[in-house]
Amino acid sequence: MARFTSGNDVIAREIIDRYPVAKSAVIPLCHLAQEQDGHLADDALVQIGELVGITPAEVLGTASFYEMLKREPCGRYLVNVCTSISCHLMGGDELLHHAEQRLGVRAGATTADGLFTLEEYECQAACTEAPALQVNYRYFHNVTPADFDTLVDDLAAGRLADTIPPHGTLARIRQRIPSDRAAGAASPIGGAQPGWLTDSPALTDDGSNP
Ligand code: FES
Repeated sequence: MARFTSGNDVIAREIIDRYPVAKSAVIPLCHLAQEQDGHLADDALVQIGELVGITPAEVLGTASFYEMLKREPCGRYLVNVCTSISCHLMGGDELLHHAEQRLGVRAGATTADGLFTLEEYECQAACTEAPALQVNYRYFHNVTPADFDTLVDDLAAGRLADTIPPHGTLARIRQRIPSDRAAGAASPIGGAQPGWLTDSPALTDDGSNP
């Protein structure tokens, strides 16, 4: 799946309605697509472009700047092991090597079961807790190889499902902005907006159509 589901299409339009210029919503729409599919597929670039009135190439031009937005399918759990200086000094490289052995893939690859993608990562701003890693951008500090094995076991068994959602989910509680607080789609600098923005009634506060 790469086009938005009907439910996510409603959310996408609600997100766009927050901004005075529709294309300002490109990044949150990319995150919404990644939450749905686990990565940013070609069709998602096309649909986001349609929704905000720009080309797929322009969507890609923005999305490709951000490391968090993945263009290739990603495991359910993205494991980022830091090997920058503090973590390097505290065993980050050994931890990454252990992770490669345990998961059976090199950094940059995804396990055959689609559960884990392993990446070597730059500083995660947890230098005082080195070596550090993140799973779907949730932090784990002072990680030993034994800790890593326990973490992988827990993730594979679903024991951390309540605290670590699938890759792409930034937060389980979605931000809601009342329609009277949204900036709206009327551009303060003029310029054409996609037709549906001017043709469609505003969404209600709960995201549904009135
Ligand atoms: S060096 Fe690893 S978190 Fe900063």
